[in-house]
Amino acid sequence: MKKGLLIFTFASISLIGLCQKPNTLIKPGEVWPDNEGNHINAHGGGIINYKGTWYWFGESRLPRTEKDRTNYGVGCYSSKDLINWKNEGLALRVINDTASLLQPGCVIERPKVLFNKKTGKFVMWFHHELKGQGYKAAMTGVAVSDYVTGPYKYIRSLRPNAGIWPVNFTEEQKNASVKDGDLKSWTEEWKQAVRDGLFVRRDFAGGQMARDMNLFVDRDGKAWHIHSAEENMTLHFSELTDDYLDFTGKYYRVLPGDSNEAPALFFARGKYFMFTSGTTGWRPNPCRLATADKLAGEWKAVGNPCRGTEEENKVTFGSQSTFVLQPAGKKNIFIFMADRWTPQNLADSRHIWLPIEWENGLPMIKWHNELDIKMLK
Ligand code: DGJ
Repeated sequence: MKKGLLIFTFASISLIGLCQKPNTLIKPGEVWPDNEGNHINAHGGGIINYKGTWYWFGESRLPRTEKDRTNYGVGCYSSKDLINWKNEGLALRVINDTASLLQPGCVIERPKVLFNKKTGKFVMWFHHELKGQGYKAAMTGVAVSDYVTGPYKYIRSLRPNAGIWPVNFTEEQKNASVKDGDLKSWTEEWKQAVRDGLFVRRDFAGGQMARDMNLFVDRDGKAWHIHSAEENMTLHFSELTDDYLDFTGKYYRVLPGDSNEAPALFFARGKYFMFTSGTTGWRPNPCRLATADKLAGEWKAVGNPCRGTEEENKVTFGSQSTFVLQPAGKKNIFIFMADRWTPQNLADSRHIWLPIEWENGLPMIKWHNELDIKMLK
């Protein structure tokens, strides 16, 4: 390219950036323009605050027209106000090597990042499905970086807790003889067998399934990998090592047999709360709320937290939970983050951010056309 043309191109790119009008409000369900005027491409995401700046990580989905599958991974955006976001590019990128599990064509979903104070490193975990295998692999992947925006170096993908029983698994459950395939799926007998650990036993040797996931740092500083396991029938809460790069082998089954995915947790008012969805693919279904006194449980399902019309409540305002965000310095303020998926063009999926409100000591969610973070008290 000629030098003049190069300068012109750079000038026009930065002009586009400069011309982008700042956002003043969050508008759930609408296109959310980044600093370059493009809809924020960070889906199934999560947010961390590092040194006063917010970083949003999420699935950077290939726009329908994009053919280059190497241009895919985890997107990162930064912001000072949670409303205006600068595109920081791909924090994790697929690896153009057919020997790598992270090769183009694999599926990366629901990535989440934590900063590890002990090691000074940023650790990313994500749901990882292998190229050409649909959702069969059910693995979790881990990557690490010295810098918050990356590039993150892919370490490995695995099924956690191979050869280890959950803490809350009885001797009777360990020794039960009923096997996968013995019973007809979805009969009452089968559902009971699933609750009693049918799939935990099946996956004992090779490691437990890990699909929809989130990360949660408890008040004692221990980090947990929360994931849909057992064919999405049961959530597993798996403790991470102190460097956040591996599993300790301590894990709990949560809400066995209840088919929960899209887990998003927070701690408020002395209790743990968790939003989840049912399992209907990309289609939204009623949100579910569960609560516990301790992270390890017992968790109790307490119903649908949505307070809209009957139609809105049935579909969580057309969305599926992904994360609960606590704006810095706002003690009891939490934001429910969710995705309104567009399966035929996932990059265009919309972000649903709604303030968490309270009713009889429990969180609830109402629809708001606009959200002004500054106004939340
Ligand atoms: C629902 C999950 O929550 C999404 O992350 C995605 O895996 C879709 N299922 C795929 O159908």
